[in-house]
Amino acid sequence: MADARPFHWEFSPPPVQREVLRVAGGRTLNGRVQISGSKNASLKLLAAATLTGERCRFTNVPEIEDVRVMAETLRDLGVVVDHPEPNVYEVASGDVDWLFVPLEAAAKMRASFILLGPLLARFGRVIISNPGGDRIGRRPVNLHVEAMRALGAEIEYRNGYYFARAPGRLRGTDVTFPVVTVMGTENAILAAALADGHTTIRPAAQEPEVDALIGFLQKMGAEVHRTAPDTVEVEGRKRLRGADQHVVSDRIEAGTFVVAAAVTGGQVTLDGAPCEHLGAFLEVLEEAGVQLHCERETIEVRGAPPGSDAYRACDITTAPYPGLATDLQPPTAVLLSQATGTSLIRETIFEDRLEWLGELARMGANVEMIDDHRAALTGPARLHAAEVEIGDLRAGASLILAGLAAEGTTTIHGGHHVHRGYENIEQKFVDLGAQMERVAEEMTTTPA
Ligand code: UD1
Repeated sequence: MADARPFHWEFSPPPVQREVLRVAGGRTLNGRVQISGSKNASLKLLAAATLTGERCRFTNVPEIEDVRVMAETLRDLGVVVDHPEPNVYEVASGDVDWLFVPLEAAAKMRASFILLGPLLARFGRVIISNPGGDRIGRRPVNLHVEAMRALGAEIEYRNGYYFARAPGRLRGTDVTFPVVTVMGTENAILAAALADGHTTIRPAAQEPEVDALIGFLQKMGAEVHRTAPDTVEVEGRKRLRGADQHVVSDRIEAGTFVVAAAVTGGQVTLDGAPCEHLGAFLEVLEEAGVQLHCERETIEVRGAPPGSDAYRACDITTAPYPGLATDLQPPTAVLLSQATGTSLIRETIFEDRLEWLGELARMGANVEMIDDHRAALTGPARLHAAEVEIGDLRAGASLILAGLAAEGTTTIHGGHHVHRGYENIEQKFVDLGAQMERVAEEMTTTPA
């Protein structure tokens, strides 16, 4: 690897095609929808494939922008990434040319930082940009960096980049996180898989996507086990082999469609829905009075007619898995805007994740911001069309839900954010009877 590719000292975010979504409200959604593969699982699996020079094959990968960004980022390193058919990716990282993950990748997608652990463990060094990602909170990566240092890496931070080296192999150790971190846990697992000796990671995130990663690593020959609910232990291997993996379903997408049926009064069946991963969310919906039937990989939702006052307010608090996912807070809030009474929403994971409620209020929701982490929603509110702006991926999908429940046609700016994480979302809604379209906005740059 050459050491000094010139950096972009004055970085301008790459141009993106901004999009506007127009969503006509008041239509009942009915029918079946197939839930796609998980975004958050796919990104880590693609990264894990760099732990071996042998070919890895992934099926049920969602066709979304974040996956394309990860594939491009890997190709830029010299990794062979084939996409032989829709939803299938094959990765072979025999030699990499360039152990450098640039600002362009990090600016488009925070999850590019998941490459730190595997590249460091396999190739002994990497220069990787400090990521920006969604505009939800500060989103630091200090815990990833500290975990790598605990594993013996030397890491310096200069000019927006982490310069990481592992003199010899990384060394197994105890990695202790002060808070539960999903990608921090995954980065530590990926690095420890090729480290010398035994690593214990505690508290380890318990999200299903972490277990999907562990399952794949085991197929690659790694010695990785969840030995207690919050503990993952890894016995490092010198070499891993190629493996295949079918990506687990996206529980966040599933939750979004459950709420879509509930707020439009429709009857929708979700196929390929990971019921067992949606426990806390489905409990909230049942408490709110949504009629649901779950059986293995299918969820049937029978929404109450709009205006029937059938839903009840309830208080929700986001938490690490198995608690209510912060990514499901926005869709749940749309439902609660339609419930009778006052619901308290407590967001404990990210400090900016309630900001989007300002946009929901523009559509007629009764929102009272208590502080950065708490808001009260009083319903049922008659939502109406408005011009709203998407700040992040999950809020974006939830503004679509609000648009579906509103009177009139809602214009949602920043619609391109939604394509980062939801496969074919308009078509899925249209197939269920929604009226929505996406149109190009003017060319501009990604918001910082
Ligand atoms: C992942 C998910 C994201 C989800 C989030 C929480 C992916 C690609 N993204 O994000 O969809 O919303 O889990 O379930 O899988 N923190 C630090 N320092 C760090 C890392 C995290 O302070 O180095 C803090 C964060 O600011 C946050 C908390 O830890 O307050 C948890 O964040 P984390 O679990 O790390 O989120 P991600 O893994 O980035």
